[in-house]
Parts: sequence; structure tokens; C-alpha cells
Amino acid sequence: MEADKQNVQTEKVQVTERDLSEQIKAVTKDSHVRAENTELMLAFQKANISLHQYKLLLCSLYKIYEALEEELDRNASHESVAPIYFPQELARMEALQKDLEHFYGQDWREKMTVPAATLRYAQRLREIGSEHPEYLVAHAYTRYLGDLSGGQILGRITQKSLGLKNGEGLGFFSFPAVSSPNLFKQLYRSRMNSIELTETQRAGVLEEAVRAFEFNIQVFEELQKLLNMSEKNELRQRHKTHDVKTPDISVSQRSAVTSSLTSGSQLLRMLLGLCLALALGMGVYAF
Ligand code: HEM
Repeated sequence: MEADKQNVQTEKVQVTERDLSEQIKAVTKDSHVRAENTELMLAFQKANISLHQYKLLLCSLYKIYEALEEELDRNASHESVAPIYFPQELARMEALQKDLEHFYGQDWREKMTVPAATLRYAQRLREIGSEHPEYLVAHAYTRYLGDLSGGQILGRITQKSLGLKNGEGLGFFSFPAVSSPNLFKQLYRSRMNSIELTETQRAGVLEEAVRAFEFNIQVFEELQKLLNMSEKNELRQRHKTHDVKTPDISVSQRSAVTSSLTSGSQLLRMLLGLCLALALGMGVYAF
């Protein structure tokens, strides 16, 4: 039996208002709505995504999960991390590496592009991994439970709209060791609720969860700016190529006009010559 089914059955799930899982959901409710409504996430929901968009998103996700998972690994035995440490079920790094290699080739690391917001997010993860490992639960919750919820819908949309076959380039959305995302989320919430926190620590975790959403929103916004910029550049480039071509066309048209004018004036000259010859001939004849 898979880990999630087994554990949910043996761990009694009782939810109370004091539960971290409920509190974290409540404090991040508005942030979730804001994240869902960023231009990038709306594009995904409308199935209006390009391969370029998806590849850029994967690059940022890689940097985020690299920091998150390295910090979770380093703090695996910490009392606030151990209960929510599920590397086998949740770890995304390897899947992201494969996806990036699929799209960019072997040298994907050199080809990656990430905005500053992604680096700030990764930097924050490293910071709390060293100074406040108990805050890691806020970030793990935000990313992993998101991936197991709306992320599953986004995966199907991405597959369809980009026409990706046999799961290639879609490893990020796939959790082969999680047979039921809903059951696993229940297990995860009950593990979150088992973490013992002082009031100050709890307040810190809740604040960090709002910050985690904020980091994601900033990443999406900066990614969208990057995409808009590269779209504008592409358009400008296309315009330039068009501008260069226009004189070519007009040059060739001009030369066509010139050549027709040339042949016209030649004809005129010939006609004038003929008239003159006739007039002369007639004159000669008349006199
Ligand atoms: C296209 C955008 C998104 C859609 C359509 C979406 C949709 C959903 C849905 C349907 C749920 C399940 C709610 C429930 O079970 O009560 C959910 C939960 C969740 N989402 Fe999103 N989501 C999106 C973006 C995000 C983003 C960007 C994040 C964070 C980075 C995120 C984080 C979460 C989290 C942490 C949960 C679990 C909430 C809980 O049960 O405590 N979502 N999402």
C-alpha cells in the first residue's frame, strides 16, 4: 500500500481552529487569490501559454526547489521539519532537472534565465534554513500543497496546450509516489499540526507563509515582465527585418519602374525618329 493511504489510515485526522494547517490556510487566503490572478497564472488557466513561458517558469521553479529541498535535507532531523519531511513523495528537483534537460539539452544549467525575484526567494529559503528551520514548513506547505492542488490542473492544461507527448517535459507536475493527492494532503496537514511551536514561532510561521506567497507572486510578475520584454523585442526585430526588406522591395520596384520608363522613352524616341523620317521622306517626295 502507498505511503499516503497507509499513513492517513493510521494517523487520526482531527481538525481544530488552533491547527497550524487551518491557520495557515486562513492567513494565506487573500494571497492565494492574488497569486491565482497574476497575469502568468491567468494565462495558464486560460490555456494561453507558450513553450517559452513554460520553459522560463521551469527555470525559476528549479532555483526555488533547489534551495527549498537542500534546506529541507539539511534540516531533515530538526523537530519542526522531520514531521513534514517527505523527500520520496514530494521532491521536485530531479523531475525539474529532467524537464529542463528535455527542453534546453545537456547544458541547460548555462541556458537558464531567472529574474531577480527568484534569486531573492531562493536567498530567503537559504536564510531561514540556517536561522529559522521551523519556518521551512511555511514554504514547503505553500509550494507542495499548491503543486498537489491547483498544480495538478495546471499540469493537464500545459500538456494539452503545448501538445507534449508521453509526459515529456511534464515531470514537474507528476508525483508517482503519491497515489491520491487528496489523501496525501490530509496526511501532510495532520503532520503540520503535530509540530510543536511556541506562540512566537507560530506567529513567525504564519507570517512566513504570507511571505512565501508574496515571493511567488513577485516571481510570476517578474517572469511576465521578462516575457513581455522578449515579446516586444521580437516584434521590434520583426519590424526591423520588415523595414530592411521594404527598401529592397521599393528598390526593385523602382528599378522595374525605371526600366519600364527607359523602354518607354526608347519607344518614344523610335516613334519620333520614324515620324521625322516620314516627314523628311514626304518632304523629299513633295519637293
Ligand atoms: C492557476 C493558479 C491556481 C489555481 C487554479 C489554484 C487552485 C487551487 C485549488 C483548487 C486548491 C484546492 C483548495 C482546497 O482544497 O480547498 C488550491 C489549494 C492550494 N493552493 Fe492553489 N491554485 C493556484 C495557484 C497557486 C499558487 C501560485 C500557489 C502558491 C505558490 C498555490 C498554493 C496553494 C496551496 C498551498 C493550497 C492548499 C491550501 C490548503 O488546503 O491549505 N496555489 N489551489
